[in-house]
Amino acid sequence: MPELADLRAAFVEGMSRAATFVAVATTDGEGGRAGVTVSSLTSVSADGEHPSLLVCINRQSPAATAILQNRAFCANLLAEDQQEIANLFAGRSATDRAERFDRVDWAAGDIGQPLLAGATASFECRLATALLWETHHVIIGRVNMVRLSGSGSALLYGQRAYRRAIHLDVK
Ligand SMILES: Cc1cc2nc3c(=O)[nH]c(=O)nc-3n(C[C@H](O)[C@H](O)[C@H](O)COP(=O)(O)O)c2cc1C
Repeated sequence: MPELADLRAAFVEGMSRAATFVAVATTDGEGGRAGVTVSSLTSVSADGEHPSLLVCINRQSPAATAILQNRAFCANLLAEDQQEIANLFAGRSATDRAERFDRVDWAAGDIGQPLLAGATASFECRLATALLWETHHVIIGRVNMVRLSGSGSALLYGQRAYRRAIHLDVK
């Protein structure tokens, strides 16, 4: 059995090898307007009463608190040219949290959640349920509407860098 510190480091390294898509979970309402960059966006089911998805957000993120209060959010799957937006909502630029939405084009969806312009797909959701697991809220949304952009190429993140998917020829 490895030491706990080694286990954590091995876990982080192992997970860094999974190329994931990059999304910004946004929310608006009485709990405030907020957004956070996530790689934890996952499809749960296309075949329930509504399609559903989940995101895992650190409990210390103001965006998680706002999503839980607003009971709605939008998962904006970023396009491959949207690295700056990923950095903006990950706190990697000098912009204050309150000013992040001034730096991007966005519009409210059918239930008032911020849809980011240029996202390859935006999934506007009502909060279905949430579970606090140690450090993170596992947040499940029922998809209310989907907006697709012209570009199907999503921004990826893997091995600690932004990436794009390339087609592999069959050998
Ligand atoms: C590519 C990428 C993926 C991330 N994925 C997640 C995630 O799934 N969940 C999460 O809580 N934070 C994730 N983060 C970290 C948050 O974006 C970041 O810690 C947070 O936004 C801090 O900024 P803020 O507290 O100023 O909002 C990710 C960051 C990056 C750059």
